[in-house]
Amino acid sequence: MPLPVASAVQRRGRHSFQNNAVAVRSTLVLAVFLALVILLPLHTTNAAQQKPAALSDPAIDARIESLLQKMTAEEKVGQLVQYSAGQPTGPGTGRSDYEDMIARGQIGSLFNVVDPHQINTYQHIAMEKTRLHIPILFGLDVIHGFKTEFPIPLGMASTWDPGMVELASRVAAKEASADGIRWTFSPMVDIARDARWGRMAEGAGEDPFLGSLMAAAYVRGYQGIRLDAPDSIAACAKHYVGYGAAEGGRDYNTTEISEHTLREFYLPPFHSAVNAGVASVMSAFNSLNGTPSSANPFTLKKVLRDEWGFRGLVVSDWNSIGELIPQGIAASSGDAARKAFLAGVDMDMVSNFYHDNLQALIKSGQVSAAQLDEDVRHVLRVKFALGLFERPYVNEAAAPKALYLPESIAAAQTVAEKSLVLLKNAGGPGGKALLPLTNEIRKIAVIGPLGLDPSYPDGAPEGSGPRESLASAIGKRIGSENITYFKGVGILDGTDQGIAEAVSGAQGADLVLLTLGESSDMSGEAASRAHMGLPGRQQELLEAVVRTGKPVVLILFSGRPLTVPSAIEQVPTVVAAWFPGIASGPALARMLFGDVSPSGRLAVSWPRSVGQEPLYYNALNTGRPPEDIDLTKPATDITSRYVSRYIDEQNSPQFPFGYGLTYTTFTYGSPSVSTNHLSAGSLNKALATNLTAMIAEADVTNSGQRAGEETVQLYVGLQGTSTTPPVRALKGFQRISLGPGETKHVRFEMRPEAFASWTAQNQFAVEPAKVRIWISPDSAHGAAADLEILP
Ligand code: NOJ
Repeated sequence: MPLPVASAVQRRGRHSFQNNAVAVRSTLVLAVFLALVILLPLHTTNAAQQKPAALSDPAIDARIESLLQKMTAEEKVGQLVQYSAGQPTGPGTGRSDYEDMIARGQIGSLFNVVDPHQINTYQHIAMEKTRLHIPILFGLDVIHGFKTEFPIPLGMASTWDPGMVELASRVAAKEASADGIRWTFSPMVDIARDARWGRMAEGAGEDPFLGSLMAAAYVRGYQGIRLDAPDSIAACAKHYVGYGAAEGGRDYNTTEISEHTLREFYLPPFHSAVNAGVASVMSAFNSLNGTPSSANPFTLKKVLRDEWGFRGLVVSDWNSIGELIPQGIAASSGDAARKAFLAGVDMDMVSNFYHDNLQALIKSGQVSAAQLDEDVRHVLRVKFALGLFERPYVNEAAAPKALYLPESIAAAQTVAEKSLVLLKNAGGPGGKALLPLTNEIRKIAVIGPLGLDPSYPDGAPEGSGPRESLASAIGKRIGSENITYFKGVGILDGTDQGIAEAVSGAQGADLVLLTLGESSDMSGEAASRAHMGLPGRQQELLEAVVRTGKPVVLILFSGRPLTVPSAIEQVPTVVAAWFPGIASGPALARMLFGDVSPSGRLAVSWPRSVGQEPLYYNALNTGRPPEDIDLTKPATDITSRYVSRYIDEQNSPQFPFGYGLTYTTFTYGSPSVSTNHLSAGSLNKALATNLTAMIAEADVTNSGQRAGEETVQLYVGLQGTSTTPPVRALKGFQRISLGPGETKHVRFEMRPEAFASWTAQNQFAVEPAKVRIWISPDSAHGAAADLEILP
């Protein structure tokens, strides 16, 4: 997911900028936080209360109706047409007549235009030459920052802190809007259970509860308190729906998801985004249970509009209307346009099929003029809500000044620091913790292809902002003369000589930071992997470096968990760093030296082998619950053989969902519950409310020598429901800070919703059941308290 590069970027002297950034860092981050706290509603799990008024504002509805009355059929269809005007690829793009089409009112939106001057040029045509002066909506994939690059979304999810996501998307909105972009195709809220699927990098992982909180946080950050504020941008929840369940983890592949599983796991983050007021939704590529998502009236109309009351706009994914032909449900462009339109796709991204066919389809009565009006309402509503009619233009002079602000870089560094997940920390003397490093370490060798800038291993391009390598950030602490860098091997290639040089570099150092993993283009769109180990000769490099006997910290960069069991076994100190973004070097340095303690937690289960995928903690119970067994012994015991497991691999992940270490340790007391009995009837009556059904609580003690942050997690398991429940389901979490030896009493106020699930009658309800409640450090451990839900 390379970031878009604008033509005009203010570059700064890297060295002085970084010094400056470090000095003012805390103040700036505090300032950004305060701004967020004052201006934005506080984070709460009840997203429904935060719905901004813009999409249901009667004044906007009145303006829409008055404009609609003046529009011709051609102008109406024009509002439903979108092209990529900045990239001459794909069907319907790369045309040379955008300006003529805009002047005729035939284009409603353009994307991939990132030059503010070009944006204004197009907008002037729309505002001055068209009959009705309807502004163009300019969009872009602003995924993890516009210019200031934040960690990839999977890294941001690993913060388990929606405030971090809100901060990142607020900064992205400020930068993008200053450039003239008022619509981002983000957040991707697809549940991702299969790490082969490269787009796992773009989402919040495998869990609907965490995913829903993050979805709402993105929307709040992008859209601000008012959509019509000049620095707000419209968000887009994508890819609706089930796209992450691609069979075999192969991008764009078919999905089969029962309605139960869809409602229980895949829909909630979209629902949360809608409740948070998301202005748009993108219909996905995948066939869902035999119907392409971009022609699926069940998901697009029944669920999204009728059940959830969504009033914003639905845009297709790139040419996903065009793809209805190769998918086989349309024999012609007219067929494809009709099916997508009738299903509820408002805007056609680049296929050109709406432009070519909609007027004829209306004339022939195959689709109704009333539906055309309704779709146009959705598009106009977003344009009015953004204030585009009042402020269509971008201030070209001001635009570059909003990019790479010190406070934005400081925010990116804070988020990066919180996204790092410490997987193991036993490489010190006698198997003790190796991290944090002390300034007594004299010489450090950074080794590996990702040691300079993990986002750009071959060198950051012009205009990618003030970046600092890990080696340089560490050199500032221990003296640049004490730091050496050896690439060793490339991501995919390497030579014996490169490995030998790295080995001699390791021999000359006191400690090695081994920076291995994927390049950033090995995850993301169309980047599925069947092998998820270290690519190329990196494992060889690792083994050669480990053989030197020097202490090694393995820093893994990737857009997904990697199946590296032998690396994890050989190196006792391992960090999952994802792709931390522009402040990668300083963030890692501060974590390694203990200025900040690692606090990231896995938002996805970390597999041991590809054969375990799809792998997710909230799997449904089986009748033969598996337990990990000793695989070195033959499976002769009949009771252990005939359970749901592999004969050649453990069931358990290498590291479970929710897992992450820090520089201290925590012990958990047994959880207790405020009641042993609840009533399903009463809980159902209170389902839509904020009322507390009961309290679950436990003592958590910092049993180590340092202060630290813990993410205390609350899981629920049910038994006796009408549909098979998951083994456990996350229902809450709290981040707490504890000094050494300190104990905190952690209290969860559980709402009725925490006990509800989608029943066999297809209703979201609480049913009589036995309940287990875990308060635990991750999804695989912890003690439980029991209670019962009576009728
Ligand atoms: C295709 C991707 O699937 C989608 O996520 C993206 O927003 C569009 N291309 C536009 O670039």
